[in-house]
Amino acid sequence: MTAEAAPRGNRFFIKKSVDQIQREAASNHLKRSLGAVNLVFLGVGCIIGAGIYVMTGAAAAHFAGPAVMLSFVIAGLVCVFAGLCYAELASTMPVAGSAYTYSYTTLGEVFAWVMGWLLVLEYGVAAATVAAGWSGNVVSFLGNFGILIPPEFTTSFVQAVPSTTGTLAFTAGHGFNLIAAFGILAVTSLLVLGVSESASVNNVIVLIKVGVLVLFVGFGFSYINMANWHPFIPKNEGGFTYGIPGIFRAASVIFFAYVGFEAVSTAAGEAKNPQKDMPIGILGSLVICTVLYMLVAAVLTGVVPFRQLGVPAPIALAVDRIGIPWFSILIKIGAIAGLTSVMLILTYGQSRVFYAMARDGLLPQVFATLHRRLRTPWIGTIILGCLIAVAASLLPIEILGDLVSLGTACAFAIVCVSVLWLRRTRPDLVRPFRAPGGWVTPVLGIIGSMVMATPLIADLIMKAGHGDPIPAVILISYIAVGAVIYLAYGLSHSRLAKGLDVLEDDAGPSPPVAMLHGIGEDHAAP
Ligand code: ALA
Repeated sequence: MTAEAAPRGNRFFIKKSVDQIQREAASNHLKRSLGAVNLVFLGVGCIIGAGIYVMTGAAAAHFAGPAVMLSFVIAGLVCVFAGLCYAELASTMPVAGSAYTYSYTTLGEVFAWVMGWLLVLEYGVAAATVAAGWSGNVVSFLGNFGILIPPEFTTSFVQAVPSTTGTLAFTAGHGFNLIAAFGILAVTSLLVLGVSESASVNNVIVLIKVGVLVLFVGFGFSYINMANWHPFIPKNEGGFTYGIPGIFRAASVIFFAYVGFEAVSTAAGEAKNPQKDMPIGILGSLVICTVLYMLVAAVLTGVVPFRQLGVPAPIALAVDRIGIPWFSILIKIGAIAGLTSVMLILTYGQSRVFYAMARDGLLPQVFATLHRRLRTPWIGTIILGCLIAVAASLLPIEILGDLVSLGTACAFAIVCVSVLWLRRTRPDLVRPFRAPGGWVTPVLGIIGSMVMATPLIADLIMKAGHGDPIPAVILISYIAVGAVIYLAYGLSHSRLAKGLDVLEDDAGPSPPVAMLHGIGEDHAAP
């Protein structure tokens, strides 16, 4: 396949041609075999993870109190608008690399790089976040059997502590979260070996995840102490601690709980009837998760006073309070299984983004080099796994989660801008799915993304102002490293800028999205 790479205009803004992307996609011969139910399963499987099992606790304890239920509605709504925009781009350009590739065709290379770097937050850093949550649940589960692991191996180097100003502060400690690192390295090994969830495993995991939460709600309901819900919106104690600002800050925290729903959007090329099935897949999985999340939050804050919920495994804490030992063990096993599958999906997603970027010459080839026999980008995956493991062992879930939410909000905004841009510049393109409501949906998506990002940035600045610069330093370093890699490597190695063909390997076409997530192994026509 050839690249029509005549770079036009400013070097930073050279674009891939949409027509070329569509031809590449057509050569993938994806079979349109996914119905609405498959898409909903795909979405729920990717969405439910550490967000609900872990971060709901911190969001309630530090920011919203019982009103964290409202935060779920706000974050869910933002995802609906962004999800519809994702689906429009995905149906127009059904390719691997998703949002990264969309930006390359619509806004140009530098935006593609920015998007790729944001996706590292959305997938790679999210995998580290889930690993931190996984570790909390494993430790709690082992505790049921009297197995106690020394805290220096279960806590991160940087630790979150409540500050005198009412917010969380971060301080360097002595820990190294070995359990979280182990979780990521185990998942990395599976990916190197080419293990992905099979269709039936995916479905079983979805049922376990949903089943655990439904059981928690069902059992926990009768243990709710209504007094714990008063006040429903605790009075603001300064900054983002409670009150209306706290509800929005909590929404930006649990925005994380929805990350992954874009998997539905990126399966647009495999949907039987995209115009009908995509909205059902996106809205269906978001509605199911939002309702489930609100019910779980209601039980959680009803069983345990919200100020006590800022722990690594809040649901585990609540089931321990309920005090039925077998139930506690069951819930923890379910949580661990669910979190393991999300770690796998996110680490996989990250390796695919790096794979796409390396094939375009924006990252070293090592990320696109496939193992001869296993057919996986093994060296890149190992490097990635080690980096994620280090992040998971050094940083607390509070910092990691905020980075993910910030990166995801920015990525969503770029996707929404890309939709508007492409409609204006290429109204002629065939769009099997078009986001409803004209420009309203993308504009609401952009506004919603800003609503998610604003409390995160404001909190970062406030913390730095209070002498707690760690989160700001991490974010600025992250942006600086990204800029250096692009300027020192990507800019001079970009295959598009050199007018080179798209890098071919003998791996065949990119596997269909649904296959990556285990729904049907036989989508690609030979
Ligand atoms: N939404 C996923 C989770 O909550 C990333 O773990």
